[in-house]
Amino acid sequence: MKNLDLSNKRVLVTGASSGLGLEMARQLARDHKAHPILVARRRDRLADLAKELEQLGASPELIAADMTRADDRARVFAETTERAPLAAAILNAGVTFFGRAVEQGRESVDGLIATNVTAVVDLSLRYVSYFKQRGDGGGLLLVSSMASLQPMPYQATYGASKAFVTSFGQALAEEHAGDALSVTTFCPGGIATDMIESAGMSEKYNKDHPMVMAVEPCARLALGAFVRRDRVYVPGALNKLTALSSKLAPMSLVTKLVARDYRDVLPKR
Ligand SMILES: NC(=O)c1ccc[n+]([C@@H]2O[C@H](COP(=O)([O-])OP(=O)(O)OC[C@H]3O[C@@H](n4cnc5c(N)ncnc54)[C@H](OP(=O)(O)O)[C@@H]3O)[C@@H](O)[C@H]2O)c1
Repeated sequence: MKNLDLSNKRVLVTGASSGLGLEMARQLARDHKAHPILVARRRDRLADLAKELEQLGASPELIAADMTRADDRARVFAETTERAPLAAAILNAGVTFFGRAVEQGRESVDGLIATNVTAVVDLSLRYVSYFKQRGDGGGLLLVSSMASLQPMPYQATYGASKAFVTSFGQALAEEHAGDALSVTTFCPGGIATDMIESAGMSEKYNKDHPMVMAVEPCARLALGAFVRRDRVYVPGALNKLTALSSKLAPMSLVTKLVARDYRDVLPKR
């Protein structure tokens, strides 16, 4: 199948109000000449970004929506597909919790699973069916994480939610290998965004940490893998090496190493 050509095409980006989603939307408009459809809960931030993208020559659309709500997800699907064709969808919205799983609290657990898992499954199935029906080479990008590659003590629900996404994305890609569409799963390591900051991890995992990437190159690599229609992509040489090591080493050892690394930050909360 040919590479994705996003030029002059409408592309959905969830979680576009900050971090990786915001930067991917910016690069889609600037470098790919696409028209991003911006989705997140914070409408004011989306409106600011839409103004910036208009300056870049794009015609952005804005949908304020909460991915934990089934009615909002149905509205996003309808608004992105009914008024004009959609070329590609990037499901990037996500949340984390850092700390012992028993301390997370029911509401936070439910919100994390709804955002990172339920919404991703719901919208993936809708968009894959839509792209299959259109038969014109649509692309779906799922933003997962290297946290999906091994158990994540102290980010237990987050790691498990991303393990779901990485497994689901690859399975979907195989089920549609013969169809005119692609499913790409992106697995970054740390990225210097609000997520790390608000999880209380930024003292250690900040832009000076070798495993934490700046958001601009990370977004560029994500969009590169998306356009090439890669099935799974881990950005950066060090991340690739770490991903390979965690595949080769015993899972019990890798789990202990993750826990040891995170314990440095944990008591300061
Ligand atoms: N930062 C990292 O180290 C890292 C590493 C690997 C993978 N990732 C993944 O990268 C993706 C983007 O994260 P980020 O680092 O850019 O974090 P971020 O800066 O906190 O951005 C998260 C985005 O998700 C949106 N979002 C969260 N809950 C939502 C909901 N219920 N409904 C709609 N939108 C929602 C937020 O928008 P509103 O709050 O305005 O709704 C925001 O735009 C996530 O899937 C994350 O798991 C991040």
